[in-house]
Amino acid sequence: MRACARSIWATRMAEALRVAGLRAGYGRTVVLEDVEFSLPERGALAVLGRNGVGKTTLLATVMGRTSLHAGRVEFQGRPIESLPVHRRNRLGIGYVPQTREIFASLSVEENLDVAARPGRWTRQRVYELFPRLAERRTAYGNQLSGGELQMLAIGRALMGNPALLLLDEPLEGLAPVIVTGLLEVIRRLIRDEAFTVILVEQHAKVALEVTQSALVLSRGRVIHQGPSAALLADPRQLAALIVEG
Ligand SMILES: Nc1ncnc2c1ncn2[C@@H]1O[C@H](COP(=O)(O)OP(=O)(O)OP(=O)(O)O)[C@@H](O)[C@H]1O
Ligand SMILES: [Mg+2]
Repeated sequence: MRACARSIWATRMAEALRVAGLRAGYGRTVVLEDVEFSLPERGALAVLGRNGVGKTTLLATVMGRTSLHAGRVEFQGRPIESLPVHRRNRLGIGYVPQTREIFASLSVEENLDVAARPGRWTRQRVYELFPRLAERRTAYGNQLSGGELQMLAIGRALMGNPALLLLDEPLEGLAPVIVTGLLEVIRRLIRDEAFTVILVEQHAKVALEVTQSALVLSRGRVIHQGPSAALLADPRQLAALIVEG
């Protein structure tokens, strides 16, 4: 009995994120219905689906930026659904929004510094990860290219020293050479840097290649959950889920 209780506890402790019975949206509008999933520590989850199915809303709900109508969000075993955004951030959730949200009138350096919290990720380490940001350290937010903005958005999230990283379409609208470089960084963050990651991507194959599990949304509901490798190995199922889902 005691052994059983201990193993349940151990399982719960190893869980980074658990979402259950989620119903959320904007004001009284409901976008997500009955969304449920869990993610182990150091796990990487791809969230896929066509435009407008609720991918951004799902990340925004984990971050506390939407109206929650029902359901639970647990981070490292602790309920967080009633906490405001800044408390979730302080607990260790880092958000890279689809719209980047870089301060246009602050320099690269200042954009990084405003997000700084103590931990192993410092400005120096962010510059090592993205040497281009070091070169552009005095440039203002409104002087940056799309690729630089995305590097800065990821760098700023790292400066908060999170355990869980929410990445919303980090490759969207970028030139192929930039996509390759960013993808390598995301791969490193997942494989070598012990982050737990949720990756929202339109490029389904790319997202499946760097994650362990996948979730497909359609009209705010989960229509598929399973290992990324299985979906990657079945292009017909993948196409059916994303194109027709
Ligand atoms: N701020 C908002 N207020 C009201 N409705 C919104 C808001 N943001 C998004 N929506 C609606 O919620 C639904 C889901 O949008 P969401 O942005 O989560 O989709 P998505 O899967 O991220 O799409 P995309 O692939 O285009 O980024 C859409 O119908 C959208 O119109
Ligand atoms: Mg989106």
